[in-house]
Amino acid sequence: MDKQINTLHSPLILGDLHLKNRIIMAPLTRTRANNPGHVPTDLMREYYEQRATAGLIISEGTWVSERGQGWYGAPGLYNIEQSRAWEHITSAVHAKGGLIFAQLWHQGSISLSEFFEDGRLPLAPSAINPLQMVHVKDGLKMSEVPQEMTLSDIQQAVEDFRKSAQFAKDAGFDGVQLQAGYIYLIMQFLHESTNQRTDLYGGNIENRARFLFEVLDAVLTIWPAERVSIKTGPMLNEQGIFKAVPSTLKTLEYVYNKLNQYKLSHLLLMRQLADLNGTPLVALQGDDVLNHARKHYFGKIILNVDIEPDHAENLVSSEEVDAIAFGREYIANPDLVERLLIGASLNPQRPEGYYGSSPEGYTDYPFISHIPVFNS
Ligand SMILES: Cc1cc2nc3c(=O)[nH]c(=O)nc-3n(C[C@H](O)[C@H](O)[C@H](O)COP(=O)(O)O)c2cc1C
Repeated sequence: MDKQINTLHSPLILGDLHLKNRIIMAPLTRTRANNPGHVPTDLMREYYEQRATAGLIISEGTWVSERGQGWYGAPGLYNIEQSRAWEHITSAVHAKGGLIFAQLWHQGSISLSEFFEDGRLPLAPSAINPLQMVHVKDGLKMSEVPQEMTLSDIQQAVEDFRKSAQFAKDAGFDGVQLQAGYIYLIMQFLHESTNQRTDLYGGNIENRARFLFEVLDAVLTIWPAERVSIKTGPMLNEQGIFKAVPSTLKTLEYVYNKLNQYKLSHLLLMRQLADLNGTPLVALQGDDVLNHARKHYFGKIILNVDIEPDHAENLVSSEEVDAIAFGREYIANPDLVERLLIGASLNPQRPEGYYGSSPEGYTDYPFISHIPVFNS
């Protein structure tokens, strides 16, 4: 067998967890939860169970509160009913020898008042429309101007993360991951275009990062650091208000440096999805985002976004990174671990099924052993 393939399939220790391989399932919102109620379903159990051979599954984003929602069909993790439903999923993954973290998610301004029963506006650090498309029941709608969070809203959001971390523990997850990247609430505090506060949560970098570290400290009252991970980095979608600005890198460098004190399970880092030419991040194309992070963050790093299997193998065998997270390939290949091991071809993607409510494009991607063989 190819020596290189062995590294991606070799075990990895993350804190006190022993991963059987370095092939990680990236967090993927798939909108198969119940509505209303945002309760995980049996179909979701089947989907995660199918992918339990991953070294570690990071769950789809799961809301820490009713106020944190903003995507039709996504699940929550903020009440007993949701937590019990997640328990069916974690038990199924464990029964197949897998490990699963819950991704804790607050969407902030990436939401709409129509999601809230009383028509309240979504919450955000400042009343600034992020100009993003929001997933509603029948398609996409432009975001609106959110409501600026009061100090008591901020305290409540921190407490919501803490409570959700407890629900995750009760549900049998192996750990939690903070969604502190891309365009959601924690990033809305970090980014100066969405945070124009003049109090302790806005202005300089330390203030903009305060919410993130308060959330992290709250979650660490429930979980040991080795079971807590974070998804963050300079990756934005470069659309609407989420464009890299000169302070983007300095902000992230501050965050990486401070995170070093925490000895977390890992950092999930995204390579760029957008074209960075002409932006302040032009030097961070491709793997350069990793090279930059490595200079500032000294813990385990899982790299993600558009990584071909051969390149994934090179990155882990050269010890540039600890593991690779696959997103879209995990949507289409429940047995990705096995396929990469034997060098089998990968199933083609069916993006029309990324979001939806049915098993089509969700649990019906074939396993290699299930592909029918026809005699000619
Ligand atoms: C359908 C879909 C849903 C996603 N949902 C989430 C999510 O809930 N949380 C998150 O952090 N990233 C989410 N992402 C981003 C993925 O985790 C990953 O970064 C992205 O797919 C790029 O990796 P890939 O090139 O391996 O697919 C999503 C991506 C896709 C395609």
